[in-house]
Amino acid sequence: MMQCWRLDSFVQTLVLASSDARLPVVVYWGAPLPKGCDLDAIAEAEARDITGGMLDANPPLSICPEADRGFPGQPGLNLRDAGGRVLRPRLRLSGVEEGRDALTVTCEDADAGLRHVARFAIDPDTHVLTLSSEIDSDAPIIVDWLAAPVLPAPQLSDEMIDVSGRWIGEFQLQRTPWSAGIRMREARTGRSGHEHFPGLIVPGRGTTNTAGEVYAFHYGWSGGHRMVAEELPDGRRQVQFGHAGATELGPVTRAATAPLLVTFSRNGLNGCATAFQRHIRDRIVRWPDAERPRPVHYNCWEAIYFDHDVATLKEIATRAAALGAERFVLDDGWFGKRGDDTSSLGDWWIDARKFPDGLTPLIEHVHDLNMSFGIWFEPEMINTDSDTFRAHPDWAMGPQDQIEGRQQRVLDLANPEVRDYLFDHIGAVLDDHVIDYIKWDHNRLLPYPDAAQTHGIYDLLDRLRAAFPDVEIESCASGGGRIDAGILARTQRVWLSDSNDARERLRIQHDAALFFPAAITGSHVGPRHCHTSGRVLPMSMRAWVAAQRHMGFEMDPRELTEAEAQVLTRVTAWWKANRDWTMQAEIHRLDHADPSVIAECQIAKGGERFVAFAGRAATASQILPRPLRFTGLDPEASYRVELTNREDLGPLSRGDIAIKRGAIELPGAHLMSHGLQLPAAFPDTIWVIEGTRL
Ligand code: DGJ
Repeated sequence: MMQCWRLDSFVQTLVLASSDARLPVVVYWGAPLPKGCDLDAIAEAEARDITGGMLDANPPLSICPEADRGFPGQPGLNLRDAGGRVLRPRLRLSGVEEGRDALTVTCEDADAGLRHVARFAIDPDTHVLTLSSEIDSDAPIIVDWLAAPVLPAPQLSDEMIDVSGRWIGEFQLQRTPWSAGIRMREARTGRSGHEHFPGLIVPGRGTTNTAGEVYAFHYGWSGGHRMVAEELPDGRRQVQFGHAGATELGPVTRAATAPLLVTFSRNGLNGCATAFQRHIRDRIVRWPDAERPRPVHYNCWEAIYFDHDVATLKEIATRAAALGAERFVLDDGWFGKRGDDTSSLGDWWIDARKFPDGLTPLIEHVHDLNMSFGIWFEPEMINTDSDTFRAHPDWAMGPQDQIEGRQQRVLDLANPEVRDYLFDHIGAVLDDHVIDYIKWDHNRLLPYPDAAQTHGIYDLLDRLRAAFPDVEIESCASGGGRIDAGILARTQRVWLSDSNDARERLRIQHDAALFFPAAITGSHVGPRHCHTSGRVLPMSMRAWVAAQRHMGFEMDPRELTEAEAQVLTRVTAWWKANRDWTMQAEIHRLDHADPSVIAECQIAKGGERFVAFAGRAATASQILPRPLRFTGLDPEASYRVELTNREDLGPLSRGDIAIKRGAIELPGAHLMSHGLQLPAAFPDTIWVIEGTRL
């Protein structure tokens, strides 16, 4: 007997089928199917031929492929009993709950006392499907691998795009051809990590940013994931996501995956990117006040590092406010005896040598300037040179002779005593001061990955959020080392990278937008001489690149020339005047004929306006700029288009091109098919183009 279920949004349909009460199979995932179509026929049409050198039936590529049915690839579940013997459960459908836009499927092996629960939900507005699996056992078991519901990957796809990266070089896209066997990515450093971002994009052949079919995946877990993208010997393809292998360390009676977010698009990479952006911003992040405009940040890290002096900080705050900052964030260095990065993590009390009257005088000064106040913590870490470590050496994870990172160790967050300590000490700072923001850092890799550590961090964050619901939190891990939907369910901003080099940031932001919206993506104007690259970039480039996302400053404002301060003040004012719609806009990556240009178009909800940014990240190989082709506009509508930063016209541009003279009106079809002619410009400059639908 066949049983079928479907989940739909405007852009996609997913069909599941179970025959003879076996584990369901995703028999269709792609463009929307007609309402009321015969799902049994679709399930039956999925049956494939049998030929020589094969078993007499195709082992199903189910939502949890079973090891004992001759499945020729990675199974969806690897279990052992508490004594270490391999378990091969024979799971049979035992219950299905159908909700509005949701489906829960339970399969059971009654003899083995094991249940597998798979959950599917589709968001009709964001177009993101959320999938998760859970295993329950009567007796304790060891879970070596549990995949979120397994999905087939398309056949007419030549490559996969996944994401690697490093400190100051996050979100590097890697394209790997499909071939026989497995492409496996696994983050074993105990956090989602710079190195192995938990995401995968499978484009159809010929897909670009703006056209073609795409399937995209993001695993919302901060403790490290494993991805298996496999072409089976018979040619079928599967994608599995779960926690990094063997991170459920003890025998357990229950284990669950994190939510796997997936989506399909027929509009190129942008279709998936904008779905993820919406979903993260509107469904995952819990804003204390969604209506409150994102404030312009000032962060003092690259201005003064550990050198905290109240008079200097006050002067910096005054200057930052004059430039337009609305939140002042006191970074690392205010606690314990933190003169450098060798000591004091764990001692979360104010350093009276630096702040003899506490933090209140600085906070009051900041408030008098109409800025709110934020503060840095690195709660999960401890220096052995700290009072806390001296009192509790057993609180650190890992062996005594472990390799440290930045001279620090990791606190064992699975220990409730440690969580209570952190809750009490962070809570005391928040109770005693008017603080609306925490920058929550995490600067070393774990000695070993452990799911219990991630659950502990989530628990601590959840407690703090419940106790201090008005405090926003930024997730930072040496820049972008912990960016994922799991941490974003508990935080409201990510520090995308420690690179404040605008040329690098332009590229990192562009690629991160495949998953993340502007509203959560921090971007700061750094020092004139960039501390991570040594480059010197014009203020216009630095300011506009920061203005593409949640804007902030991180240089010492005392270094600014009058001209630099004017540019920054102007761009910041533009950002504030537009943030009500840009922070809600969809970011569409533009396909550009010139590979030295990185361009995107942010389109307002409703499509009545847009702003495009075309950054020249290198010298072009041809003489004349190639036109900028837009996307996502109404081809029938006319748009008034204007160069926002005409003051940046430079000596390379001598021609009398239309956009230099002022606003022009062009049809959407023209902007999207032909493209806009822009002035020639130096490398490391950026054009900002605003458009309004007429
Ligand atoms: C690493 C972060 O990424 C920086 O922004 C800064 O907060 C330092 N840690 C402070 O130690």
